[in-house]
Amino acid sequence: MKRLFLTVILIIMLGGFSFGVSGEGKVVKLPLPRYKSNVSVEEALNERQSVRQYSKAALSIEELSQVLWAAYGKNKWSKLTSPSAGALYPLTIYVAVGEVDTVPAGLYKYNNKKHSLIWISSQDSRSLLSEASLGQRWVREAPVDIIVCANYRITTSRYGNRGSRYVDVEVGHLGQNIYLQAVALGLGTVAVGAFSDGEVKGVLGVDEQPLYIMPVGRLE
Ligand SMILES: Cc1cc2nc3c(=O)[nH]c(=O)nc-3n(C[C@H](O)[C@H](O)[C@H](O)COP(=O)(O)O)c2cc1C
Repeated sequence: MKRLFLTVILIIMLGGFSFGVSGEGKVVKLPLPRYKSNVSVEEALNERQSVRQYSKAALSIEELSQVLWAAYGKNKWSKLTSPSAGALYPLTIYVAVGEVDTVPAGLYKYNNKKHSLIWISSQDSRSLLSEASLGQRWVREAPVDIIVCANYRITTSRYGNRGSRYVDVEVGHLGQNIYLQAVALGLGTVAVGAFSDGEVKGVLGVDEQPLYIMPVGRLE
């Protein structure tokens, strides 16, 4: 009886702690983000630039966690780090993981409520995303690509046609957060907007509108 109990506990623990395991609905818990840094906002703004060349080194799970939190994570007010018209938050982040320590390569969705990654597939999608982006090399070479998608209906159902403008503006907020957080971590990124919408949707297997692909990597 005791052995059965221990086995069940072990199975539950392994199920919630999914490294190396894949399957529908599996979750990778992300470490908590840091709320302090030695790099000021002013320094990050002063150093921000688009970076298209990365070292071959993998990112750590802490770095990925920090970048995702900065992009669209929950802050101390239980709001998100990016503002949103009517607090409707129409954006979703997908993550194409190639080389991130302790996170198996694959496609994931960022769950900002739980600060975790939801496994979608074990396919390393970076090359396909690069092809969909007119062959842009940095999309293929970065250890991770962050893909920001929008569900316009969430915002247009309240604001009508003007809602589309709001959604387009919102992805800019999110993108800038990634740029600034990347600088503070000594990483580089670039906002990629040139891609085939249909092909990116196909790679992700979603109906939402892709707006940005942001490769993130270590500086050379
Ligand atoms: C909406 C938008 C789309 C962009 N699309 C691409 C792109 O597809 N590929 C790319 O390499 N850079 C892209 N960029 C980055 C710009 O080329 C870059 O911001 C610009 O050259 C200024 O350089 P800086 O970011 O270093 O200041 C895009 C930037 C924005 C804001």
